[in-house]
Amino acid sequence: MKNYQGKKVLITGGTHGMGFATAQMLLSAGAEVIVTGSNEQRVAVAQEALGKEAVALRSDATSMADIQALAAYVKAHAGQVDLVHINVGFSLLELTAAVTEESYDKTFDINTKGAFFTAQQLSPLVKDGGAIVFTTSIANTSGYAGMGTYSGAKAAVSAFMKVLAAELAPRGIRVNAVSPGFISTPTMGVSGVSAAELAQFEALGNAITPMKRHGRMEEVANAVLFLGFEATFTTAAELTVDGGLSHRLTLPS
Ligand SMILES: NC(=O)c1ccc[n+]([C@@H]2O[C@H](COP(=O)([O-])OP(=O)(O)OC[C@H]3O[C@@H](n4cnc5c(N)ncnc54)[C@H](OP(=O)(O)O)[C@@H]3O)[C@@H](O)[C@H]2O)c1
Repeated sequence: MKNYQGKKVLITGGTHGMGFATAQMLLSAGAEVIVTGSNEQRVAVAQEALGKEAVALRSDATSMADIQALAAYVKAHAGQVDLVHINVGFSLLELTAAVTEESYDKTFDINTKGAFFTAQQLSPLVKDGGAIVFTTSIANTSGYAGMGTYSGAKAAVSAFMKVLAAELAPRGIRVNAVSPGFISTPTMGVSGVSAAELAQFEALGNAITPMKRHGRMEEVANAVLFLGFEATFTTAAELTVDGGLSHRLTLPS
C-alpha cells in the first residue's frame, strides 16, 4: 500500500460507490479527503463511515453557487489540494424515443455542466504539479441502447479533459480520466430502474465483458490513484477499467 500522508484530495461524488471506495483507500493510506454528494442524508452516512480524517459536504454539482461554495470551502480549509477527482455521474436507461427535454437537461447538467464548472472553479486550487482525474465511461465510445444522453454527456467530459490538460500543462498539472465499464456499485451507475431491469443490466455486463465479470470499486480506485499520483508522464489520457470490454477482444474458442 502506498503512503499518501500529507496529500489533500477532493472527490466530488464520493459519498457512495466508487468515489467512496477511492476515499476509503486514500484515508487508509494517510491522505486528507473531502467528499461531496447531493443528498444530505447520504452525506451524513458517508461522514460517519469515513471518520474524522474526512469531510463530507453536501454540494450539488448542477448548482454554480454550490460549486463556488465548495471552492471557497476548499480554499479556506485545505488551501491547495494535490488531486481533484471529478466523479459525479448520473444515467438513465432510456431509449432515444423516450428521452424528454427534462431528462436530457438533467443528464447534461449533472455529468457535463457539473464536471466543467467544477474543473473551472477548483483547478486554481490544485497545486502546481498536482492532478485532476475525471470519471467518464466506456459508454462514450460505444453504442449502448438506452444510453444516448449519458454517452453524449460523458463524451463531452472526455473532450473537456483533453482541453484542460493542454491549459494546465504549463503548471505541471496532469489531467486524465478513468473510464469504467460495468462496475459493481450500489447503483451500477444507473438511476430510475426496477430491480428486474438492474438484474438484466448486470447480466448483460457479465455476458459481454471479456473478463466475464463486473469490476470492483477498488479496481477503479486503484486506477484513479495511479492517474492521480503515479502516472507522472501521463496527461490527456482516458484509462479504461472495463475488463477489456471496449477493446474488441477476440477470445480463444
Ligand atoms: N457503476 C458503473 O458501472 C459505472 C460505469 C461507468 C461509469 N460510471 C461513472 O462512475 C461514476 C461513479 O459511479 P457509481 O456507480 O460509483 O455511483 P453513482 O450512483 O453514479 O453516484 C456517485 C456519486 O455521485 C453523487 N452525485 C450524484 N448526483 C450528484 C449531484 N447532482 N451533485 C453532487 N453529487 C452527486 C452521489 O451522491 P448523492 O447520491 O448524494 O447524489 C454519489 O456520491 C459516475 O460518474 C458514473 O457515471 C459508473
